[in-house]
Amino acid sequence: MKNKVALITGASSGIGLEIAKCLAKRGFDLVLTARNSDKLSKTVKNLSAKFPVSIDSVVSDLHDSKAPNEIHQFCISKQYKISMLVNNAGYAIASPFDETAMEAEEDFIRVLGISVIALTKLFIKDMLVSGGGKIMIVSSVAAFAPPSSIQILYGPIKTFMNRFSEALNINYNHKGITSTAVCPGYTVTNFHTASGVQKEMDSVPRFMKKSAQRVAEEAVEATLNGKKVCVPTKTFKLIVFLLKILPHSLFPLFSKKLAPGRYDKK
Ligand SMILES: NC(=O)c1ccc[n+]([C@@H]2O[C@H](COP(=O)([O-])OP(=O)(O)OC[C@H]3O[C@@H](n4cnc5c(N)ncnc54)[C@H](OP(=O)(O)O)[C@@H]3O)[C@@H](O)[C@H]2O)c1
Repeated sequence: MKNKVALITGASSGIGLEIAKCLAKRGFDLVLTARNSDKLSKTVKNLSAKFPVSIDSVVSDLHDSKAPNEIHQFCISKQYKISMLVNNAGYAIASPFDETAMEAEEDFIRVLGISVIALTKLFIKDMLVSGGGKIMIVSSVAAFAPPSSIQILYGPIKTFMNRFSEALNINYNHKGITSTAVCPGYTVTNFHTASGVQKEMDSVPRFMKKSAQRVAEEAVEATLNGKKVCVPTKTFKLIVFLLKILPHSLFPLFSKKLAPGRYDKK
């Protein structure tokens, strides 16, 4: 019998790379995508040496509006039937909102929002034909937190993605398709350096920093089990619970120690 095939965006580092390992361990063939071709081909080489599954890749910059179609066409040309779509690629913009070019905000919304919708729109049609599928959307604890003073569009776009995932479940669960919004808290990856907030990450207490491997394990289990929302690790489950029941006006009081920089007035 042929292996199931998973497509993962942002698979060359951090959470996406660990999700790729978890799925390869479970016998999924993989189609990996990211922007940097050297990093991506090294990833394919390393994973292929470790796991007896087929691993292919397609270089794609999700800032480009044509990227989702090109990724889909690549899968069709190789006859890959994607049974799990992992929308993971992402970054944040650290500069203050008033100093950021509108083009940079549009690029950001394209990678974290529009490309997720576009890829889902393309692959969900194939999933409907094959009778089902799994979608993972890597969101964030920021989806539940009050908007912060840094990366001010990051939380809102992740909240939007959680609602989008919820809407997918309402519309497609009865057709065998489930969507899981994975909401990690602070995870040790390249994200903070790439997004210009490594200094803030360095000041986060150790117990709040989780490994990408642990986050990915919980994310993959939840997605395979068709869970609607997954908040990896007990620490962040508790934080999300508190975010849901306590007045948000209280959070800036705790955040100086627990989430440095998030609520400082610039
Ligand atoms: N780390 C955290 O604390 C944390 C917490 C909550 C949620 N998240 C979410 O987790 C997801 C993964 O982040 P991570 O922490 O694993 O970060 P990471 O280590 O920086 O990995 C990001 C991945 O996304 C890809 N990517 C970035 N921009 C892209 C673009 N324009 N086109 C295509 N691919 C692009 C990168 O590939 P290239 O290197 O080739 O650009 C890389 O493979 C993101 O959606 C992020 O918002 C992270």
